[in-house]
Amino acid sequence: MELNLKDRIAVVTGAASGIGEAIARALAAEGCKLCIVDRDRNAAEKTAASLRAKSIALDVGDADAVASAFEKIAAKHGHIDILVNAAGLLSTGPVADLPAKEWERVSQVNLAGIVYCVKAAIPAMKQRHSGRIINIASVSAERGGGSVGNTLYAATKAGVVALTKGLARELGPDKITVNAIAPAIVNTAMTHKLLTDEALKRILARIPLGRLASLSDIADLAVFLASDRASFITGATIPVDGGILTT
Ligand SMILES: NC(=O)c1ccc[n+]([C@@H]2O[C@H](COP(=O)([O-])OP(=O)(O)OC[C@H]3O[C@@H](n4cnc5c(N)ncnc54)[C@H](O)[C@@H]3O)[C@@H](O)[C@H]2O)c1
Repeated sequence: MELNLKDRIAVVTGAASGIGEAIARALAAEGCKLCIVDRDRNAAEKTAASLRAKSIALDVGDADAVASAFEKIAAKHGHIDILVNAAGLLSTGPVADLPAKEWERVSQVNLAGIVYCVKAAIPAMKQRHSGRIINIASVSAERGGGSVGNTLYAATKAGVVALTKGLARELGPDKITVNAIAPAIVNTAMTHKLLTDEALKRILARIPLGRLASLSDIADLAVFLASDRASFITGATIPVDGGILTT
């Protein structure tokens, strides 16, 4: 299947690690020109160097920093074809036990961060009358948290699902598609410590396909959604969860 991604300009946030990094690598393997965005400067530079890409260190929750970085990217390349919003934070524990500030911490990155990046990318996509936006949500949006992330985390991801639908409607006339991927649990820096033998056993018992998602399970779908082959898919949140939402 010809994906036609050669020389497309792709910005991936959270690309220094885990799911974002895997998506950046998969897009680069298809010939995209990558811009690696992450608040972890060293790790972002490392990923970028291995992909002969550019890296930008910023906090996606800082609207001004995001706007100025995307202006620079658009000025350099003339446009942006693909934006993948993978930067994210996990929050755990019952809401009653958490300081109110925890909501600010997690929503500022998981939800506001996506709003800021999308707003900053829209002019550079509209200009060519095309674009692909891919947001990383989570099955926790549907379940209200549970296996790993808590209620606050799930609420930010439910916001991502709503944002994905509304943006798809707003940006459809400009031929910009907006979709989300909802992974169940993937073993990354975010989840690793929580995946004790006991937790793993409990989680696997609920997954009909009997394993965690691999990074390539997520990256393969992201590449497809970024390609011309997915030009009539928009506003969708696609679970990559081994069937966990069926149980
Ligand atoms: N791992 C899972 O089980 C799982 C499941 C569902 C959804 N997700 C989502 O996938 C995305 C990627 O998570 P991951 O598992 O790869 O985690 P990860 O911790 O490996 O990667 C997250 C990356 O985001 C970066 N980041 C965090 N806050 C940032 C900020 N304010 N600005 C810029 N960069 C920032 C981190 O530095 C890191 O490189 C997240 O949105 C997460 O919520 C993960």
